Amino acid sequence: MKAYLLNEVGGAENLVLSDIDKPEVKAGEVLVETKAISINPVDYKARAIEGLLSMLMGEERPVILGWDIAGVVAEVGEDVTDFADGDKVFGMVNFPGLGNAYAEQVAAPAVHLTKMPKGVSFEDAAATTLAALTALQVLTGRVKSGDRVLIHAGSGGVGHFAIQIAKQMGAHVITTSSAKNKDFCMALGADEHIDYREQQFEDVLTDIDFVLDGMGGETLTKSVKVLKNGGGAVSLPAPDFPEEVTAEAEARNLNVEFILVQSNGDDMKQLAGMLENGTLKPHVSVTFPFDKLQDAHLQVESGRTIGKAVVTV
Ligand SMILES: NC(=O)c1ccc[n+]([C@@H]2O[C@H](COP(=O)([O-])OP(=O)(O)OC[C@H]3O[C@@H](n4cnc5c(N)ncnc54)[C@H](OP(=O)(O)O)[C@@H]3O)[C@@H](O)[C@H]2O)c1
Repeated sequence: MKAYLLNEVGGAENLVLSDIDKPEVKAGEVLVETKAISINPVDYKARAIEGLLSMLMGEERPVILGWDIAGVVAEVGEDVTDFADGDKVFGMVNFPGLGNAYAEQVAAPAVHLTKMPKGVSFEDAAATTLAALTALQVLTGRVKSGDRVLIHAGSGGVGHFAIQIAKQMGAHVITTSSAKNKDFCMALGADEHIDYREQQFEDVLTDIDFVLDGMGGETLTKSVKVLKNGGGAVSLPAPDFPEEVTAEAEARNLNVEFILVQSNGDDMKQLAGMLENGTLKPHVSVTFPFDKLQDAHLQVESGRTIGKAVVTV
């Protein structure tokens, strides 16, 4: 089968399309014939940064990057009862860990997958994986009805799911992006939009209950200032917060956290339910064929992707 091997960290050109043996299917796993793969910022970061790659995937090289797949079950391992050959499935495989997703066939733990609802395309299913799981896992238990929630980068992969899920939870959603993506964010259900290029959000917002920060750095430092006492924030890009942030959190009883999304088939089932009843709509703004996967990396690396970028196999 064909798969992209990464022998050492570097640019997108280090992803080398190769012919390798199909993966062995262990107990508890299914073999998925991949139809679509979604690309996330963590994909290009792990491709480029040795420390992150080792933290997520261990020391052995080469590795097959990628975690988000949708496809068809081609083989069922021992002890798997939930899936059969021919089932259409999707999920985030082994994150953090060896996802092996940039391949024509992927051996995936059955507990990381769920069945695709009828009528959903492979592209949309593949899109509704790491980014959607992140939005769901961050917001669940941290946001309640009536909360004022600030979602940064509402037009991005995580943000566009988070706006929709926070609205379902009954929150008042304020989101940031540049002006060109305002209509997109509002159509997802946002109540208010701030163009970060024209307006400083910290000048116009107060009394926020919860911030989902997909930017980090200065955005996080300013975000804690708009939280009400006792409010919460999850910052996604990195676990190390500036001293200023931890000091403010302590002084005002703020709960500022980093979380790393985790593979979870039950959460995937919940997302599948939302896709089925139409309460969650992925937006795939750009697709690439499998032999142009390097270009999909460059697209996501631009930081300008609207919704999701997906590779079709
Ligand atoms: N910890 C975890 O488990 C976890 C999970 C998922 C993601 N992440 C991290 O979270 C971050 C976001 O991921 P993602 O997939 O949502 O990224 P993404 O899809 O690449 O985000 C792109 C979006 O960000 C917007 N944007 C860029 N600069 C902005 C700014 N200064 N303020 C507001 N919006 C801005 C862009 O809109 P404009 O073009 O309009 O600027 C664009 O639509 C990444 O750093 C990723 O690695 C972490």
